[in-house]
Amino acid sequence: MTTFSSAPVLITGGARRIGLALARSFLARSIPVILSYRTPYTELDALRQAGAICLAADFSTTENIYAFAEQIRSLTPRLRAMIHNASRWEPETPTTPPEQTLADMLQIHVYTPYLLNQLLEPCLRGQGIAGADIIHLTDYVVEKGSEKHIAYAASKAALDNMTRSFARKLAPEVKVNAIAPGLILFKEQDDDAYRQQALEKSLMKIAPGEEEIVRLVEYLLSSRYMTGKTLGVDGGRALR
Ligand SMILES: NC(=O)c1ccc[n+]([C@@H]2O[C@H](COP(=O)([O-])OP(=O)(O)OC[C@H]3O[C@@H](n4cnc5c(N)ncnc54)[C@H](OP(=O)(O)O)[C@@H]3O)[C@@H](O)[C@H]2O)c1
Repeated sequence: MTTFSSAPVLITGGARRIGLALARSFLARSIPVILSYRTPYTELDALRQAGAICLAADFSTTENIYAFAEQIRSLTPRLRAMIHNASRWEPETPTTPPEQTLADMLQIHVYTPYLLNQLLEPCLRGQGIAGADIIHLTDYVVEKGSEKHIAYAASKAALDNMTRSFARKLAPEVKVNAIAPGLILFKEQDDDAYRQQALEKSLMKIAPGEEEIVRLVEYLLSSRYMTGKTLGVDGGRALR
């Protein structure tokens, strides 16, 4: 067992973009962090120096998910929170068999959080009423579907639904909520035309950046009452 100053927060896919921003914000507030990464980004050095425990994990098989849960249990008896951030945004393409796209999307957005929630339940319980949190990162497309990312949208919709099931199962010890972002930040390779088109989709017409999710996660962890909710952070997209 590792000695932590308090129960750590577990973030999947915590070595880049939103997951990285979350890890940094917890570390800056002296909240211990365990994160998973798949690609060994250079940011991992600084995260480790700041005290994060960074575990290589590829959730593409059930065995790997079980092994990861076992690793967490061997590190700590308690988790303050588990943030399901790891994700892939795969479109349907003519070159990938559709069953492969569907399997990949279900694996990372459904199997992984479903199994980790079940396997790590003992680490989340036992900390009093509202003593721990699960947060599912879903997507605005859960509401509307997506003609280019059908399997992605369906898998995030399943994750959104699990928010309510796990909230019911784990209350009142563990609160379970979902954050459904619209556009938060662009990828480096997004060209100007794509960026303009994406910005036009919301009322707010900005890509607000990771801080928007960081603040919402802070709020969710501070709440003693909010559970089973999906919080949209989408610049008012449905009203366009
Ligand atoms: N960014 C946005 O504007 C936006 C909009 C809507 C929803 N969201 C949601 O918000 C969350 C964070 O978004 P983001 O843009 O920061 O995500 P991201 O950059 O795509 O990062 C996701 C992380 O998950 C990891 N991952 C993917 N498949 C994995 C696997 N099989 N095993 C282990 N790790 C795996 C990736 O590892 P690799 O680095 O090795 O690929 C990556 O580090 C996601 O759940 C996303 O769906 C984001």
